[in-house]
Amino acid sequence: MAVGILLVGGFGTRLMPLTKNTPKPMLTVAGLPVTEHQLAMAKKAGITTVVLATSYLSEVFIPYFGDGSKWGMNLLYAVEKEPLGTGGAIRNATKLLTGDESIVVFNGDVLSSHNLSQQIQDHEANNADVTLHLTTVDDARAYGCVPTDSAGRVTAFLEKMDNPVTNTINAGCYVFKASVVTAIPEDTVISVERQIFPELVEKHGRVFGFIDDSYWLDIGTPTALLKGSVDLVSGAAKALALTPQMIQSHSPQSLIMKGATVDATAVIDGGSSIGIGAVIGQGAHITGSIVEAGAKIGKAAVVTNSFVAAGAQILDSAQISTSFVTNLKIFPIPQ
Ligand code: GDD
Ligand code: MG
Repeated sequence: MAVGILLVGGFGTRLMPLTKNTPKPMLTVAGLPVTEHQLAMAKKAGITTVVLATSYLSEVFIPYFGDGSKWGMNLLYAVEKEPLGTGGAIRNATKLLTGDESIVVFNGDVLSSHNLSQQIQDHEANNADVTLHLTTVDDARAYGCVPTDSAGRVTAFLEKMDNPVTNTINAGCYVFKASVVTAIPEDTVISVERQIFPELVEKHGRVFGFIDDSYWLDIGTPTALLKGSVDLVSGAAKALALTPQMIQSHSPQSLIMKGATVDATAVIDGGSSIGIGAVIGQGAHITGSIVEAGAKIGKAAVVTNSFVAAGAQILDSAQISTSFVTNLKIFPIPQ
């Protein structure tokens, strides 16, 4: 059975100030941390042992996920004192794994409904060194561009280019042969995207693409973070992590987690989600937004396309649109 590594050590710079005290993968989408949605996807493909490769704000993960037994998983933590880059992080996390099973690596900020079981099966059937999940986007400039040949072999790995050669991109989920990971130098800052993959392709390693255009989103920008949550609530993305025990009510318009208090006259729509312990006042209207656990929205307040962080409070009759709201300040989301 394959084992997993979740890359959750990045700084989440594009989501500041939300990521000042909360690492990007621990931000809430559809009532739960991004990481919890990803773990459910891994588990569905039969992966139960996962190392969280942490660095920035590493201390936030352990109190929430513990040893993983609550989810029927075995979770381990590899902490980098200084971020080691994606390749260094994968190598470091592998120190906690024994055995020679395939290693599935996930970028920690991706929501994906692709067929991971099939990706692992294809990888093993091809006796591949690495098999990359690839997807198609309209504008490939912010991603790793990955052309393939007719046999599905990757012919180049071109991280973030101004004039992309193809719209087929690296979707941030890799299946590695264990020996390919252990060949990465230990305790060294190194990037899989900029060094390891391009070098493997150049040396004619067996690098395959697994093309699957199911729902896919990198939630690393403010607009994408909100979209990801709305898509999980509406059903456009599969919300495997949500269980009936966690939910007070759920429709394509709204998700209200158990333990939230929503006044009967409040309107929650546009795929909004309301976290545990949040309080929504009389006549409030929340649209297309994420309200994290414990946030409070005053009477008759209108909150549109915004992220209200844990502990934030919105005053009665306030009108908030396209903003991040923390307990300290309101920040307009740059468009
Ligand atoms: N542990 C650890 N240490 N994790 C890291 C480090 C590190 O030094 N650096 C980055 N990460 C994690 C981030 O937390 C994130 O989950 C993941 O690695 C990818 O980093 P991003 O900063 O989100 O990269 P990106 O979105 O610009 O580009 C990556 O993802 C695209 C798909 O969403 C690349 O892999 C692209 O090739 C890819 O197309
Ligand atoms: Mg990203």
